[in-house]
Amino acid sequence: MYELRQKEIDQALQILQKSGVEETTREFQRLMAYYRCAMMEIETKFKVLNEEFSLQYDRNPINSIKTRLKKLPSIIEKMERKNFPMSVSAVEEHLNDVAGIRVVCSFTEDVYTLADALLKQDDIILLQKKDYIANPKENGYRSLHLIVSVPIFLENEKRLMKVEIQLRTIAMDCWASLEHQLRYKKEIDFTKEMEQELSECARMSTELDARMDRLRKEADI
Ligand code: GTP
Ligand code: MG
Repeated sequence: MYELRQKEIDQALQILQKSGVEETTREFQRLMAYYRCAMMEIETKFKVLNEEFSLQYDRNPINSIKTRLKKLPSIIEKMERKNFPMSVSAVEEHLNDVAGIRVVCSFTEDVYTLADALLKQDDIILLQKKDYIANPKENGYRSLHLIVSVPIFLENEKRLMKVEIQLRTIAMDCWASLEHQLRYKKEIDFTKEMEQELSECARMSTELDARMDRLRKEADI
């Protein structure tokens, strides 16, 4: 008699657990869809600014835009590394970079012009700003990082979603992409000499941006 009850309880638990997992999966997929929508909103805003710019100044400040959604294994890894509880709402609360957009600009000035134009928009809330152009990282990495909150409009609600925006020039992107490849392809630590060489390359890319900016001013574009 007791045994039978225990079996029923186990069965019920199993079913409950299963529906729990399914529910969580559904919730997670919904959250990822919201992040995709938020990225679309931000990408469109930059495309609109690019259009307006090209009308006004006859050139494109944006060279390329890339969006990326953090994959589930990276989300789990980061939540564990930072000791956050693992739940869908905790991911939304604690991670700022589930939705990421990288805007590669022609000139350094374009980075700031675009960032200012975006932040002026009345539906955008700035949550965090890291200016690695004014203050490069020790290894030489440069970019302007913004974490913003942007509303997405669903059938019955408005939802504020966080998006990480990285703005950089072509030269900054070139350095960062190659440094990333070097760092992550082989899981070895850089030697002091390699660090120095990378830092020298970063210095050259900074010099390149400065010279290009001077040419832009001379060409008056
Ligand atoms: P994470 O927790 O790793 O996201 O870093 P964080 O929260 O301290 O943010 P930070 O703004 O410093 O960096 C976020 C992102 O910028 C990274 O995920 C990279 O895409 C990029 N980034 C930062 N530092 C470097 C770097 O040294 N080299 C390269 N290639 N990319 C970098
Ligand atoms: Mg990150």
